[in-house]
Amino acid sequence: MYWKPDLESSEPVFRQIMRYFEERIIRGELSPGQSLPSERSLAEEIKVNRSTVSMAYDELRSTGLVRSVRGRGTHVSEDLWGVIPSRIPNWNLYTSKGAFLPGLPLDLRIREASNMPDIINLARSELSPDLFPVSDLQRLLGKMSLSIPLGYSDPRGARQLRETLVKHLGEQYDIHVDSDQILITTGAQQSLHLITQCLLAPGDSVVLEGPSYAYSLSLFTSAGLRLFQIPMDEYGLQPEEVVELYRRHKVRMVFVNPTYHNPTGTTLTPQRRKRLIEICSELRLPIVEDDAYSALTLDDTITPPSPLVTVEGGYNNVIYLGSMSKTVAPGLRIGWVVGPSAVIQRLADAKEQMDLGTSAISQELARTFIESEWTTHIKKLQKNLSIRRDCMISALGRLDNKNISWTVPNGGYHVWCRTNLTAKDSDILEIGIRHKILFVPGGLYGAQRGYIKFSFARATIEEIEEGIHRFGEILKL
Ligand SMILES: Cc1ncc(COP(=O)(O)O)c(C=O)c1O
Repeated sequence: MYWKPDLESSEPVFRQIMRYFEERIIRGELSPGQSLPSERSLAEEIKVNRSTVSMAYDELRSTGLVRSVRGRGTHVSEDLWGVIPSRIPNWNLYTSKGAFLPGLPLDLRIREASNMPDIINLARSELSPDLFPVSDLQRLLGKMSLSIPLGYSDPRGARQLRETLVKHLGEQYDIHVDSDQILITTGAQQSLHLITQCLLAPGDSVVLEGPSYAYSLSLFTSAGLRLFQIPMDEYGLQPEEVVELYRRHKVRMVFVNPTYHNPTGTTLTPQRRKRLIEICSELRLPIVEDDAYSALTLDDTITPPSPLVTVEGGYNNVIYLGSMSKTVAPGLRIGWVVGPSAVIQRLADAKEQMDLGTSAISQELARTFIESEWTTHIKKLQKNLSIRRDCMISALGRLDNKNISWTVPNGGYHVWCRTNLTAKDSDILEIGIRHKILFVPGGLYGAQRGYIKFSFARATIEEIEEGIHRFGEILKL
């Protein structure tokens, strides 16, 4: 719980606590029978005297909204009839239903703690606000003519943006396709969602890297898919493992994030890319290539391997996903799917039913940005990110602690660390929060205990140094 009473307010603290619970009960966010925190734990959490919490709970009991039973603590009254002003639906019952599973507690806690004042955020895979090309976007927005089609657009996305992408993908990624092989989405997350909803069915088995991008794991689980992770080494996944899994589990699709992988930062080698395509062609197994980070190479001497889709046989087997979230700004909500036109048609049809298309203004802004700013912006971003990456690596080195090791990523946002921490991920996260530092415990990606992901994209240089220093203190506990 991240609510705290306002100690400066003229309203007594016990009354604020009482009102906080009263409102949540009346809104149905706390349902009949649900437990309230114990007086002691709440007092500790919100940093007030236990007697203040006792007074608040006494008041709540006197209204009939809560009851206390010896051995069971305090809980919302089972029968609120006549106690709350009107009969309202039990929203808790509804919110626990529906196709989407609730977010994982670890993830919810990270999101909640992100809003804490003074916390150093090394968890979020998001650029820091000073790295967004705000002035370029502002200028392009100012110049934007609203003579662009403002009605519902082609379900595949605005024609002009798709044509710009044909050129952009050809020049920057060596991907050569027609505009009818491109679908514009509201980011790679929607692309993954459309693929799971349109091309797969509950019970289908899919193969992923182990560890894997956390939000794909939760999305796939909500879609009822059976997930099989192939453990990665420093060169990505081992393609031969796909064959074994295919035999045992009748795998239907392979999902990979082969370049500057989230969370490990690794890149699948050209040899393994070739082998993966050979294996999947042989098995007639589609591959989804999530390529959110490959533009973000952080060393001048390195050229990332060509995307899987461009490897021989790739155009027939690979559905390629791109996004502007990691390179420009996630708030644009612009991504794309590249694939055989029949697949694009199917996904576009579903997208139309789902949201009637991505914002025309966002699409136009993305188009003009790609056409006029891309090259300069990416160079600048690569430079800035490489400074942040180097700063994080140096700070880790300065810890001089043999209980933590890492690999230096050649691109992307992340440093993946192996530590000797043996506590539960949720406990490690809480220790971090107490030290005012946020990182992602590896369990969220399907990794074993002790792994930690740090992102260097979001924090400032000073925060990175301080955050890693604080993590060093945690390692010594
Ligand atoms: C590997 C990977 N794929 C997809 C996404 C989702 O990105 P988007 O904002 O384009 O939906 C992310 C975001 O963190 C990511 O790291």
